Amino acid sequence: MQTIVDKLGRPIRDLRISVTDRCNFRCSYCMPKEVFGDDYVFLPKSELLSFEEIERLARIFALLGVKKLRLTGGEPLMRRDIATLIAKLTKIDGIEDIGLTTNGVLLGQQAQALYDVGLRRLNMSLDALDPDIFGEMNGRGIKPDLILRNIDRAKDIGFTMKVNMVVKKGVNESEILPMAAYFKERGITLRYIEFMDVGNDNGWSFDSVVTKKEIYERLAAKYEMEPAEEAYFGEVAKRYRYVDNGAEVGFITSVSESFCSTCTRARLSSEGKLYTCLFASDGFDVRALIRSGLSDEEVMDQLIGVWERRADRYSDERTEQTVKNRKKINMSYIGG
Ligand code: GTP
Ligand code: 5AD
Ligand code: SF4
Ligand code: SF4
Repeated sequence: MQTIVDKLGRPIRDLRISVTDRCNFRCSYCMPKEVFGDDYVFLPKSELLSFEEIERLARIFALLGVKKLRLTGGEPLMRRDIATLIAKLTKIDGIEDIGLTTNGVLLGQQAQALYDVGLRRLNMSLDALDPDIFGEMNGRGIKPDLILRNIDRAKDIGFTMKVNMVVKKGVNESEILPMAAYFKERGITLRYIEFMDVGNDNGWSFDSVVTKKEIYERLAAKYEMEPAEEAYFGEVAKRYRYVDNGAEVGFITSVSESFCSTCTRARLSSEGKLYTCLFASDGFDVRALIRSGLSDEEVMDQLIGVWERRADRYSDERTEQTVKNRKKINMSYIGG
């Protein structure tokens, strides 16, 4: 295995793979329904990386130092036979951890099959327990009961799970404490995510962000918490432990406390473009490389070049100007 570092000395450790650009939700902060309407054109199947192509690329990335894979979308469970892909990925030398981030709607049907092929970690998105607030935020009127049932089901099967809650000012702030109480009780880590300016369509402004500090203060007024140790180098979330029952809670603070200096993540879009930052404007066309018949070594050389040229640190540099001026890739396409 080689160790390659980017221009800021960061190694490559994680690959986030988007397996589809489609989703059965229309979250206002990600795929607002005014933009992703009935006439929106998603990628045709021939444009998507095949499972064989994804597996090949994951093997090559593992040789460059990637240890962790995360499957995302869109909604990854909308890609047909995703368990077949996971079965292939679990066999790659050097890959120590595979996770999947899902909205959980299709999990009831698929959880057992995913566990059976070796998946052990799920990150579930859930923004509210209140049916009206959640239905409005997911843009499809889906009720939280379904997601909560599927979370219980997956937990019973044996998955390790975290729940992601994007907090938007004036939209679901009232759910901060109810969500904390619900998941604390169940021993599932809830992570509050600061609303981010991903993509170009989600109407973001600094004013719409509820910061970690504000959320932490609300929790601290009710619960005693102590900092938990980092689970891995450059962990995205800052986590705390509730002193009374040992459950954990986390914060993903891309806006108020950026974490670019330890960012070891690369992102592969569903059509095979490689992005070295969530907020990148352009990707590197890896699909063209692999479909042009290059050998693994030749592909690897190109990927090394991309990583060695990397200097991204968007969240460190975020200002009103960068928010306005940068044309960014949509999150449903790159996978968060
Ligand atoms: P684990 O820590 O392995 O459980 O996964 P994760 O938290 O990296 O993955 P998940 O898909 O659950 O992402 C949670 C949130 O963190 C999402 O809102 C992501 O967009 C955000 N996130 C993940 N990586 C980055 C990153 O490199 N930069 C920024 N700004 N946000 C990130
Ligand atoms: N800001 C913060 N988090 C977001 N996610 C999607 N869009 C945004 C945004 N604009 C989260 C989802 C999911 C994860 C992959 O990214 O809720 O949990
Ligand atoms: Fe779908 Fe996730 Fe985006 Fe919501 S945040 S629209 S569930 S991809
Ligand atoms: Fe990494 Fe870009 Fe996120 Fe910074 S903003 S942590 S460089 S993905």
